[in-house]
Amino acid sequence: MGILPKLILASICAAFLAVFCTTPSFHAETLRGVRVLVTGASKGIGEQLAYHYARFGAQIVITARRGEVLRQVADNCLSMGAQRVFYLAADMSNESDPEKVVDFAVEKLGGLDHVVLNHIGASRFAMWDGDVEHTRLLMKVNFFSYVQMAWRALPSLEQNKGSLIVVSSLAGKLSNPFVAPYASTKFALTGFFGALQHELAIKKSNVSISICTLGLIDTESAMKKVRDVVNLPAYPAADAALNIIITGTTRQTDLFYPWYTSVMILCKDLFPSISDYFIQNAYNTIP
Ligand SMILES: NC(=O)c1ccc[n+]([C@@H]2O[C@H](COP(=O)([O-])OP(=O)(O)OC[C@H]3O[C@@H](n4cnc5c(N)ncnc54)[C@H](OP(=O)(O)O)[C@@H]3O)[C@@H](O)[C@H]2O)c1
Ligand SMILES: *[C@@H]1O[C@H](CO)[C@@H](O)[C@H](O)[C@H]1NC(C)=O
Ligand SMILES: *[C@@H]1O[C@H](CO)[C@@H](O)[C@H](O)[C@H]1NC(C)=O
Repeated sequence: MGILPKLILASICAAFLAVFCTTPSFHAETLRGVRVLVTGASKGIGEQLAYHYARFGAQIVITARRGEVLRQVADNCLSMGAQRVFYLAADMSNESDPEKVVDFAVEKLGGLDHVVLNHIGASRFAMWDGDVEHTRLLMKVNFFSYVQMAWRALPSLEQNKGSLIVVSSLAGKLSNPFVAPYASTKFALTGFFGALQHELAIKKSNVSISICTLGLIDTESAMKKVRDVVNLPAYPAADAALNIIITGTTRQTDLFYPWYTSVMILCKDLFPSISDYFIQNAYNTIP
């Protein structure tokens, strides 16, 4: 396709998005008493998700590996207005922990209205060095545990007209260098939960699935990796978390946050060689 037809196509897409994708309105009151499970809640975006749900007066179960840190986050949630908070330390690389966490949440809260799958295992920001074992482990933590937890939570979400919220990344839609194992887990998530979205719609299921595509967010772990390497603005974790909750509550299929994520995906599809040039020249040093 030449440049002109592509530009016309892009304008049509933009107009279409503007007309049909206006956000349904969000009412914070509807979250009072809502029963929610948040994973990866000991720091970063997950911790901020827990605090927003707390301020909205939700009933919350949080999980991550470090119990002592979770206890502190749970205390903070209570002082911010959460109706009830429980925590369970669990390791998502373990085969049985993902299901154990869902069972714990359903038992403690008497059912689930929102499930936010957000945790990720540690991974390096570096050239692929052939470490297959790390990739396999990351796949367990970042992908298979999501599949297990979603399946385990579906019956309760179905009963409660619930929302399943999957936190993904631009790296799950557009390949970037230095994150090959991480990107593969995020592409797996978008593929799997995109298919499940269609199946639930075809079945007229009560459950909505929201896939959240995030750009660079200013969490400590992300900043440690890319500071001095990439010139991209990092957006605040608390704002990312609020947008994730709004997307799930209003039952939208996708979130692109911040705005440049959707532009980058569109650019890659329409002008692949220009997009590749910018991606390959966006780094100050080779990590
Ligand atoms: N920050 C960004 O720039 C960015 C960009 C795009 C997408 N995202 C997505 O946003 C989500 C949150 O990212 P983040 O930056 O907030 O991450 P983070 O600060 O590194 O937090 C990761 C969370 O996962 C937990 N965790 C790590 N390994 C675990 C394991 N084996 N089992 C159970 N829990 C484990 C950690 O707690 P413990 O150590 O206590 O287990 C922590 O609570 C992720 O899905 C990420 O892909 C982030
Ligand atoms: C998973 O955790 C259970 C106990 O919680 C333990 O018995 C089992 O050995 C663990 N599995 C792995 C693969 O670490
Ligand atoms: C869907 O939700 C309604 C209540 O909103 C409930 O009565 C119905 O049983 C649910 N369907 C299934 C399959 O659970």
